[in-house]
Amino acid sequence: MAKLSDFELQLGDKCVLPLVIGGMGVDISTSDLALEAARLGGVGHISDAMSPYVSDSKFGTKFQSTKRREFVKAYSLDNSLHAKWDPEPTYKATYNQVQDTMGRKKGDGLVFINVMEKLTMGNPCETLRARLEGALDGGIDGITLSAGLHNSSLRLISDHSRFRDAKIGIIVSSLRALKIFLRGAKRVNRLPDYVVVEGPLAGGHLGFGEDWKEQKLENIVSDIIQYLSKEQLPIAVIPAGGVFTGTDAVNFIKSGASALQVATRFTISKECGLPDVAKQSYLQANEEDVEVNLSSPTGYFMRMIKSSPSLQSNVKPNCDTLGYLLDREGNCQYRDAWERGPVDERGVKLPISEKMCICYHFMRHQCYTCGHYVYRLKETTERLPNGEFYLPPMEHIFNDYMESEDFKINVAKAPSDSVEKVTANS
Ligand SMILES: Cc1cc2nc3c(=O)[nH]c(=O)nc-3n(C[C@H](O)[C@H](O)[C@H](O)COP(=O)(O)O)c2cc1C
Repeated sequence: MAKLSDFELQLGDKCVLPLVIGGMGVDISTSDLALEAARLGGVGHISDAMSPYVSDSKFGTKFQSTKRREFVKAYSLDNSLHAKWDPEPTYKATYNQVQDTMGRKKGDGLVFINVMEKLTMGNPCETLRARLEGALDGGIDGITLSAGLHNSSLRLISDHSRFRDAKIGIIVSSLRALKIFLRGAKRVNRLPDYVVVEGPLAGGHLGFGEDWKEQKLENIVSDIIQYLSKEQLPIAVIPAGGVFTGTDAVNFIKSGASALQVATRFTISKECGLPDVAKQSYLQANEEDVEVNLSSPTGYFMRMIKSSPSLQSNVKPNCDTLGYLLDREGNCQYRDAWERGPVDERGVKLPISEKMCICYHFMRHQCYTCGHYVYRLKETTERLPNGEFYLPPMEHIFNDYMESEDFKINVAKAPSDSVEKVTANS
C-alpha cells in the first residue's frame, strides 16, 4: 500500500516531500512551524498578514505605533482624513520577517509566504508591491498568492531580479479563476510553478458563494488537471481542504495531484501560533460547533468555531491603527456595520453579529477559523487526566501524514512527565 513518503513534489529544480503546510495568518503558521516543515523536507508557509504588527512584536520595531501617531497628528488638522498606508514600513516589516525566518532555515525543504490580495490597506497596488518585494528581497523560497484573483500581481514584480528564480503559485477554487490568473501570467511570460486548489472544506476564507456546499474538491481538481494537461501547461496541482490523513493525500496523488496543502491538523501543534486556549477549543469542538458565516469584512465566507470571541464583540473599529482591509476609498465593512449597530439604554454598542473587526480579532487570535474536520482533531492526540488534550510537536503530525496507511492516524502520546504534571495539578 502506497504512503505519502513514497512520492515527491518537483518544483523546477527543487524536489521536496509532497506536503505543504498552508499559510495561516496572523502568525498562526509561525516561522517555527514553517521551518520545521522545511527541516523535515516538505514545504512550510509563513504569512505576511499584518506583518508590521508581527515585526513590532517580534523585533521591537515601531511600525504600528508610528502609523497611529502620524494619523492622530494629521487627523487633528483635518478630521475628514482616513488613515493612509505608507508602503515603505510594510516593505521593511515583510523583509524583517522573511529575512529572520530564512536565516534560520535548515534542511532540504522550502519556506513560502502566503500573500493575500484582499489586504488592500487603503492603497492596494503599492502595498501589495511592497509586500511582494519585501518577501523576494528577504530571500523567500516561494510566494503563494491568495484571497483574490491576483490579476496584476505578477506584473508588479516582473522587473525583480528574483521573478523567475523564486517559486510562485496561486490559490484558486475554480478553473475559471485559474484561467483569469493565467491570462495575466501569459502577459508577463511567467507561468506559476504550482496552483493550490482549495475546496469548500478548507479553513480560513472560502473562494465560493452561497453554493459552497454543492462543491466538491475532487471535481474542481479533476477539471484543473484535465485543462492543464490539454493545454500542456507544466504546473503542479496541489489540492487543499479536508485532507485529514496521509491516505486521503495519497488518493489525490493517484488521481494526478502533485502534492497536498493542509492546515487544520497543524493548528494544535506546539509550533502553531494560536494560544493554548484556542488550540484546546479546536480540540474540544464537535461538528455542530462549527459554522460557515459572512462575518468577515472581506465579504468572503469563512468557517469558524461558533464560540469564537470575535463573534460576540462590539470592539470599536481599529481602522486608523490597523486598517489592513481598508479599500482605496478608506472604507471597511466592519466600520460601516459598527456605525449602524444598535446601542443599549446607556448608549453602549451591543455586539455586532453581522461583521467582525478582523484586524483586531486576528491580531489577538480571537477568530477561531478552522477546516471542516476540526471536530476530528480529538482523534489525533491523547486526552490528559484534566480533560485537556496533549499538544504534539508538528513533527509528529507531519510524519503521520507521511507514513499513514489505510486512513489510520498515529495518535500523539504525551510524554510521561507532562501527564504526571497535569495529574498532580488536577
Ligand atoms: C487557522 C487557519 C488560518 C488560515 N489562514 C489562511 C490565510 O491567512 N491565508 C490563506 O490563504 N489561507 C488560510 N487558511 C487556509 C489554509 O492555508 C489551507 O489551505 C486550508 O485550511 C487547508 O485545509 P485543511 O485546513 O482542511 O487542511 C487558513 C486555515 C486555517 C485552519
